Amino acid sequence: MVTDRPQTAASALESAAELLQGAGVVDARREAARLAEAAWSLDAGQARLHPDRVLGQAEADHLARLANRRAGGEPLAHVTGTIGFRHLLLAADGRALIPRPETEGLVALVLDRMGVGVVADVCTGSGCIALSLAQEGRYQRVIGVDSSREALAQARENGERAGLAIEWRLGDLIGPLRGESLDVLVANPPYLTDREYHMLEPAVRAWEPRVALESGKDGLDATRQLLREGHTVVKPGGWIALEVDCHRAADVAALAAGSGWIEPAVHMDLYDRARYVLARRSETS
Ligand SMILES: C[S@@+](CC[C@H](N)C(=O)[O-])C[C@H]1O[C@@H](n2cnc3c(N)ncnc32)[C@H](O)[C@@H]1O
Repeated sequence: MVTDRPQTAASALESAAELLQGAGVVDARREAARLAEAAWSLDAGQARLHPDRVLGQAEADHLARLANRRAGGEPLAHVTGTIGFRHLLLAADGRALIPRPETEGLVALVLDRMGVGVVADVCTGSGCIALSLAQEGRYQRVIGVDSSREALAQARENGERAGLAIEWRLGDLIGPLRGESLDVLVANPPYLTDREYHMLEPAVRAWEPRVALESGKDGLDATRQLLREGHTVVKPGGWIALEVDCHRAADVAALAAGSGWIEPAVHMDLYDRARYVLARRSETS
C-alpha cells in the first residue's frame, strides 16, 4: 500500500537494505548504513542513532540514489566517495585503485623496521601508503610516484585534505627517483597476470583502473624491474618492501636474492596469506 506518510530514518534504511539485498550485496544492512551516513552527512556509526527522525524529501532521495548506484554494482567506496585506510579517510572515485585492507599490513612492516629517513612509495595510487607513512612515521621526506596522472591527482588531493606533505612525482617506477638515496623503497605494484585479471570480479574490472592490477605475462614485470633497479636508489643497508600476489611470494623472494638483495623474507597478511616480501641492500655492495 502506498501512503503519503513521511519516511523515517529507519524506514529509509530498511528500503535501502532490501534493495541491496535483492541485488546480492552480502552485508546489505551495514552497507545501507554506510550509504545513509554519506547521504545525510553523518559520522561513521550514526545512521541508526535516531530511527524515528523524519527525513526531508531531499535526504530520502539522496539515499535512494546512492542505494541504486550500489545495487547496480558500483563499489561501495565509489558511491560513498571515501575509504578508510589505517588512520586516514581517503577519497575514492575511480581515478586510483581502492586501497585494500591487506596493504595496511605493508605499512606496519615498514614502520616497524625503518620509521625515519627518506622513503619512497612507488605505484602510490591513492597515496595510501605514502600518506600513512608520513602520518605515522618520523620521516624526513616522503616521496610518492605513479605513472597515472589521474591517480597522482587523487593522491595529491588526499594529501592536501590530510594536511600531509608528500613529494608527488609522475613517472615510470624508479625513473623519478634518480639521484635519491632512500632508506626505504616501498611498493604495491600491479601484480596480476592477464588471465588472473580476467578472472577478477566483474565489478573490479568495470570500476578500477586496469593499469593498477595487471603486470605482464607472469604478473611480475613491475616487481622484477623494482628489484633490478631498486639498488640504484636505496642506500646500503636500506630496505625494499613489496606487496606481492600470494601465489608468487616465494618467487619474488628468490628474484630479490637473485637481484642481489640480502635477507629476503616473506611475511603473511591479515588473512594469513603470503603477501609481502622485504629485503635489504647489503652494507657493502
Ligand atoms: C596495485 S595499485 C597500488 C595503489 C596503492 N599504492 C595501493 O596500495 O592501494 C598499483 C599502482 O601502480 C601504478 N603503476 C602501474 N604501472 C606503473 C609504472 N610503470 N610506474 C609507476 N606506477 C605504475 C598504477 O597507476 C597504480 O596506481
